[in-house]
Amino acid sequence: MTKNEGFSLPRHVAVIMDGNGRWAQRRLLPRQAGHRAGLTAVRRLIEGCVQRGIGALTLFAFSSENWQRPQGEVGSLMGLFVNALESEVAELHKNRVCIRFIGARAQFSAALQQGMRASEQLTAGNDGLVLNIAAGYGGRWDLVQAARHLATEAVDGRLRVEELDEQQVSNSLALAGLPDPDLFIRTGGEQRISNFLLWNLAYTELYFTELLWPDFDAAALQAALSWFAQRQRRFGRTPEQTRDAGHA
Ligand code: FPP
Repeated sequence: MTKNEGFSLPRHVAVIMDGNGRWAQRRLLPRQAGHRAGLTAVRRLIEGCVQRGIGALTLFAFSSENWQRPQGEVGSLMGLFVNALESEVAELHKNRVCIRFIGARAQFSAALQQGMRASEQLTAGNDGLVLNIAAGYGGRWDLVQAARHLATEAVDGRLRVEELDEQQVSNSLALAGLPDPDLFIRTGGEQRISNFLLWNLAYTELYFTELLWPDFDAAALQAALSWFAQRQRRFGRTPEQTRDAGHA
């Protein structure tokens, strides 16, 4: 729990930002306009997390499956990402945000990969919000990467297979070292995980809202956090055990 007095805040929030396309369609605008409005909502959310002292925020910006979208839309999203990297990083750095990208990078343009590396290097020492941007990410991809890494460790004699445990799997995943998300938010009305953080969401509280992503404002964030504060998290225990152990 973080520094907000008397109110249990999530340490880590994970978000599927769905509904940009529909937001634009309803306004008879191109989908691209929805993604641009989505970026404004991202700024607002980061600000809300920084203000509250939330430790980590993981955003699903572009899934491994999103490459299958029409070429024009992929192109405009890539343009938006390049511009966002250029325009946002200085301000994020000023706010002590530590930026990290998770996902398969090789498919992105050289310019974008370079921008990702540069922003990670610039902000690596920051002690504020850890902002993970999932780009080219898939939960199954993440697990396959971890399996490959662990198999290599075993073959090279650094890991005994019978000693492999959950912690070592966690440590081999893209979000190694961070607490699992306490709160997952998905906008846009769908109620599914869509190959996001499959391992890390095991005990996460799942919050779904009909709001389209560009409409997710400060009040919407507060509504999600208030909902979270009322959840009783049991992690497999009984309600009585949970109360005795003092888990909110
Ligand atoms: C899903 O809405 C959204 C995306 C695939 C892109 C998310 C990107 C942003 C919010 C912009 C910038 C983000 C960063 C981190 C720089 P959709 O297109 O699937 O909407 P629909 O379901 O209404 O079609």
